[in-house]
Amino acid sequence: MRLLGIETSCDETAIAVVENFKILSNVVSSQIKVHKKWGGVVPMLAKREHQRNLVPVLVKALSDAGLFKKVKEATEASEAIEAILAREPELLKQFLKIIPKVRPPEIDAIAVTYGPGLEPALWVGVNFARALSIAWSKPLIPIDHMEGHIAVALQNQKVEFPAIALLISGAHTQLVLVKKMFKYEVIGTTRDDAVGEAFDKVARMLGLPYPGGPEIQKLSAELKSRGEWSRFHFPRPMLSSGDFDFSFSGLKTAVLYTLRKIAKVDDRIHREVAYAFQQAVAAVLVIKTTHAVQKHKAKTLVLGGGVAANEEIRRRFQQLAEDSPGLTLILPAPDLTTDNGAMIALAAALRLQHRKAKKVKPTNLKPLANLKLS
Ligand code: KG4
Ligand code: ZN
Repeated sequence: MRLLGIETSCDETAIAVVENFKILSNVVSSQIKVHKKWGGVVPMLAKREHQRNLVPVLVKALSDAGLFKKVKEATEASEAIEAILAREPELLKQFLKIIPKVRPPEIDAIAVTYGPGLEPALWVGVNFARALSIAWSKPLIPIDHMEGHIAVALQNQKVEFPAIALLISGAHTQLVLVKKMFKYEVIGTTRDDAVGEAFDKVARMLGLPYPGGPEIQKLSAELKSRGEWSRFHFPRPMLSSGDFDFSFSGLKTAVLYTLRKIAKVDDRIHREVAYAFQQAVAAVLVIKTTHAVQKHKAKTLVLGGGVAANEEIRRRFQQLAEDSPGLTLILPAPDLTTDNGAMIALAAALRLQHRKAKKVKPTNLKPLANLKLS
């Protein structure tokens, strides 16, 4: 079973080829440089970049997987394809130039993120997948982006249920109860900022570039390797809220007020603030997740999303698993935590394996920006 996975829900244009749960290629074109100066992702810029990048990313993903072959005589593009890509003129131009000259690759289906995400960005990926599905006569499988973050951690491992998934990214913070395969209940979410967003905003206060998560991690590690300590201690919000919700805006404000009170903010202060902030976030995530694991008697804990790359957060969860007999922790490989096409192809692979793949007609697929796991 060989699958193509397409992801454009936010600021990565990503396509991968996965064969029997093995990643043959995984190409990600990041738009970080484009959005950097705005301090966050601008949806219309993301749409424009996806239009520009999808065809070259596809060509590279097929080439890396050994599936890129040219035909001698170009096929004719259909009117249906032109109609689908009418609102993506730049993408249509590239599509018509390249795709008719490419031999339809030996894949079984095309999986694409249809939500949740930024609507203009989602449309580009969905329309591209629809057009490819028609051009190559391949089935189309719509995938929930959040399920992709879970699937990339699971790959082909057997999971014992119930499971809890903690999904932490730039756009989402969710505790999800997974009673059985593909049966989800979101039991906790953020009331304001997502965890990754909090990392990004605090990084900005420290004059660090976007995305801020890796930068904060770097400063925290530097503090440790220099044998320094942090004089700061930030609040651990929502620990006694009695539910599984999170809130990070108070923590962010606490960092802001702390910085304002300091006359001379130097590199050492930056390291100390970054470290104390990371410690506060990690503590909240681990404590709230532990409560959820205990309440629902979870046998498996899965982490997903960009923030799951964080070394300190991974270390703390590994510690939790060591201290919790009967709990299996499944962590995604750090380089697969941020958005990519493999996670979408892997989610489709899991669904096909369990005969739960929804196949849709290319004419019928629309993105759902507010899609919720259920
Ligand atoms: O999953 P992702 O690529 O995009 C969304 O679906 O939102 O996550 C991106 C987020 C950014 O906020 C980034 O700062 C954060 O993940 N991130 C990290 C780390 N690497 C990426 N946060 C903390 N520590 C990291 N090492
Ligand atoms: Zn994501």
